[in-house]
Amino acid sequence: MLVLGLETSCDETGVALYDSERGLLADALFSQIDLHRAYGGVVPELASRDHVKRMLPLIRQVLDEAGCVPTEIDAIAYTAGPGLVGALLVGASCAQALAFAWGIPALGVHHMEGHLLAPMLEENPPQFPFVALLVSGGHTQLVQVDGIGQYTLLGESLDDAAGEAFDKTAKMMGLNYPGGPEIARLAEKGVAGRFTFPRPMCDRPGLMFSFSGLKTSALNTWQHSVSAGDDSEQARCDISLAFQQAVVETLAIKCKRALKQAGMKRLVIAGGVSANKALRVSLEKMLGDMRGDVFYARPEFCTDNGAMIAYAGCQRLQAGQHESLAISVQARWPMEQLPPL
Ligand code: KG4
Ligand code: ZN
Repeated sequence: MLVLGLETSCDETGVALYDSERGLLADALFSQIDLHRAYGGVVPELASRDHVKRMLPLIRQVLDEAGCVPTEIDAIAYTAGPGLVGALLVGASCAQALAFAWGIPALGVHHMEGHLLAPMLEENPPQFPFVALLVSGGHTQLVQVDGIGQYTLLGESLDDAAGEAFDKTAKMMGLNYPGGPEIARLAEKGVAGRFTFPRPMCDRPGLMFSFSGLKTSALNTWQHSVSAGDDSEQARCDISLAFQQAVVETLAIKCKRALKQAGMKRLVIAGGVSANKALRVSLEKMLGDMRGDVFYARPEFCTDNGAMIAYAGCQRLQAGQHESLAISVQARWPMEQLPPL
């Protein structure tokens, strides 16, 4: 089955062609980062308008790259939520219009299920069941995954998502959007031990997260440094390192607890923050010590992309799921509401 996947939930237009027999045939991405940078974050209306501009040229590009014609496509998968409603509507209406014109089914895919399944596109994919750590700009969740659509939420953030905390911490130090990769880059030049930030909610049992206090600690430290006359690059690097270490260690502690609770030794990390090298190194060491395994996607499939939507959609479409021509998207959409395959 050949599936065209469209992703437009936020600030990236992603398009891909995935074939159930041949694997990923082509994928293309247009990132709107430069468009939103001046505002320090995503401006929803600008995002929607840009998706409109990019979508059809990207679809043509992907078809060309794969050497395919539209009549070969069996179905279209698009992100139906969660995300920015205007941006989601661009992908949904484009998908439904093309599906109607080409006489093929369309299916709305859950963005976080897309992230969760992205490691399946890699050479050594994880087997079910596993524990998944979903860490993106909008979500921080620990999920027990027994199969596609068999999700049990084990824990999540009470306030900021991990990616959001990276972005906000970066912004207050005057770094560019998105802040995650910027903090990771500066952390490499940071002096370890100069600052230490708390590991929130680790001293009590449970699998919930809270990152807003950590972000405030970083803000206070930065303001202190500035008022003491040090607003240098090195101060930013040292704060970035301390902040990243605190986030990574907090995530690792909770992953260990979740694996223990679920009685599992297989961990999948997905979403934009799973591209973070320090996080990968830390979890690989932890799972190595436990004689377990950690799985993640290549960096470009950790952040938003069309390939993960084409893949997730293909699994559900092959199982016979599709929908009517109604165009419906959801800004909020708990993943446990998805039907099992
Ligand atoms: O999954 P994603 O592309 O979009 C959402 O679904 O939200 O995740 C974007 C988030 C941003 O907050 C970004 O700062 C963060 O992922 N991110 C990173 C890294 N690369 C992206 N955070 C830490 N380290 C990175 N290398
Ligand atoms: Zn995402």
